[in-house]
Amino acid sequence: MSIYENHSLLLHNTFHIDCAAKYFTEINSIDALLELQQSDVFKSNELLMLGGGSNILFTKNFNGLVVKNSLLGKELIKEDADYNYVRIGAGEVWHDFVLWCIANNYAGVENLSLIPGRVGASPMQNIGAYGVEIKDVFESLEALHVKDGSKKIFTNNECEFGYRESVFKRKLRNQYIITSVVFKLKKKANFNTSYGAIEKELEVMGVKDISIKAISDAVIRIRSSKLPDPKVIGNAGSFFKNPEIPSAQCDALKQLFPNLVSYPLENGNAKLAAGWLIEQAEWKGKRFGDAGVHVNQALVLVNYDKAQGNEIYDLSSKIVESVKAKFGVELEREVNIY
Ligand code: EPU
Repeated sequence: MSIYENHSLLLHNTFHIDCAAKYFTEINSIDALLELQQSDVFKSNELLMLGGGSNILFTKNFNGLVVKNSLLGKELIKEDADYNYVRIGAGEVWHDFVLWCIANNYAGVENLSLIPGRVGASPMQNIGAYGVEIKDVFESLEALHVKDGSKKIFTNNECEFGYRESVFKRKLRNQYIITSVVFKLKKKANFNTSYGAIEKELEVMGVKDISIKAISDAVIRIRSSKLPDPKVIGNAGSFFKNPEIPSAQCDALKQLFPNLVSYPLENGNAKLAAGWLIEQAEWKGKRFGDAGVHVNQALVLVNYDKAQGNEIYDLSSKIVESVKAKFGVELEREVNIY
């Protein structure tokens, strides 16, 4: 295994920020990871595990060790009357995994098509789209403790999943390296088309017989039309979370802004569409040098070419301030800032 010094991270983050890591290496096997854990570089440096780098904004060089997780493997490990259980290496590309499921008729992740990133990062932030979150199909994951290399299995409950949240972003932050994830996928699909845009898209596509493939195709079409392709324009998907506020505050806002987009939650609060708030605050499509707010989705900040991470960060701070001033609502960043 080679450890590189002063290694560029340009090709390892979907924002295409030109930063460097003091040390960088890539692991392809558990043995290599265990060996790495014994090294001085590992023991004496801050660690950053990176998958696809699709939910991160570098605002400066990383003064530690970046480890790219390239642990591969996709296998069916067991089945029962209703489910197939598959174990997927943390370094597998998420969308490749989704396509593999569709080809094998394993149902449950079709709504999560085309989400950038790797499988290992998916439980960290409980990725979600079009009415489905990873927690709905998650069985367990295997991880190694950063300090002593011991193996631990985390069940669904132990991951403490929330909206774009898990225990790995909170109290166990930087303590475990996820090596593989087991998903529980339905043999008989439960089609989830309740998210308005999917139904409309299936209609436009002229789909008569619904299937997981048709849903995946519809999601791919919707995402491609609204969200910038990170291969073309640097971005990390939604930059902010959709904020949750008390329903009384939401009702009061509705008096002032009748078109406010909100969704009632089971806990009595309301979730607001941050994209709508940002668009109403007149940021959509704005560009400052190479940092900008995407023209089709105001929740997505973009790097048109050579923006620095701190230019994107400063833009995000201005957006937070202006949304707070206009609506009294505090936006929280979803992307990890380094
Ligand atoms: N909207 C606007 N203006 C905008 C963007 C959105 O008015 O510029 C309105 C839309 O018209 C719609 C509402 O906001 O009424 C919601 O928009 P959309 O369906 O595009 O979804 P979102 O809430 O903006 C969330 C996720 C996305 C996920 C989509 C689809 C978060 C932070 N984002 O976005 O996830 O793909 O729903 O399920 O929850 C991501 O996390 O990186 C991500 C892309």
